[in-house]
Amino acid sequence: MSTQQWDPEQYQRDAGFVAALGAPLLDVLAPQPHERILDVGCGDGTLTAQLAAHGCTVVAIDSSAPQVAAARARGLDAHVMDAQALAFETEFDGVFSNAALHWMRSPAAVLAGIARALKPGGRFVGEMGGHGNVASVVAGYAQALSVRGIDVSLHNPWYFPDCEEYSALLRAAGFNVEAIELFARPTPLPGDVSDWLNMMTQTFIAAVPPADAARLVASVRDALIPSALRADGTWALDYVRLRFRARKVA
Ligand code: BEZ
Repeated sequence: MSTQQWDPEQYQRDAGFVAALGAPLLDVLAPQPHERILDVGCGDGTLTAQLAAHGCTVVAIDSSAPQVAAARARGLDAHVMDAQALAFETEFDGVFSNAALHWMRSPAAVLAGIARALKPGGRFVGEMGGHGNVASVVAGYAQALSVRGIDVSLHNPWYFPDCEEYSALLRAAGFNVEAIELFARPTPLPGDVSDWLNMMTQTFIAAVPPADAARLVASVRDALIPSALRADGTWALDYVRLRFRARKVA
């Protein structure tokens, strides 16, 4: 079970860029006013609200109760639900997901639930971390944990597929893949990389005793300096995105 917890205020402060950078995906979905749209992994509802502003009916789900509470506080129809066990049946015209699917280690279950939730011909538009995403961070933890005798693969919460692997999963779940691309998107951070590490890598940090956590994060931060600390003193990480548009076979 994942130890990752979300604090909506911290998320807004240290990861507000996630929704801002995901906004162009709304144009790919192009929701229409009469449509019913499902937002999978809505977080605090920033993009869900922008979806709703198109006039469509939006249902949003997320596994984090605090994030769902923040989304509901915006007046959104948001629910705590595991996207690996979606409880919808043939009722949505479109499914949208930004920066959430890489937290789900059972992608076939996610895609089966999304296919079930869509009407025949319904579309699924998503963006997630793709193959090689934040490889510098994973390498930093691999090194810092291995010197402690810990296998990083047992504590990595992320699933970052390439186009071939994810296309095969989409097809197996009953989708036609209309577009899929993997692209590097180096991403500036709003503060020190240790803020990002403390928020996003809780599962790696939980691999060591609490008394060792700050030392672990400091050693990963040190390892990131050559690749992620820029000349002007700001930080940027090696994000890689997998973006796709698929349609449920009618
Ligand atoms: C991402 O959006 O790609 C991401 C965010 C946090 C941790 C890992 C990946």
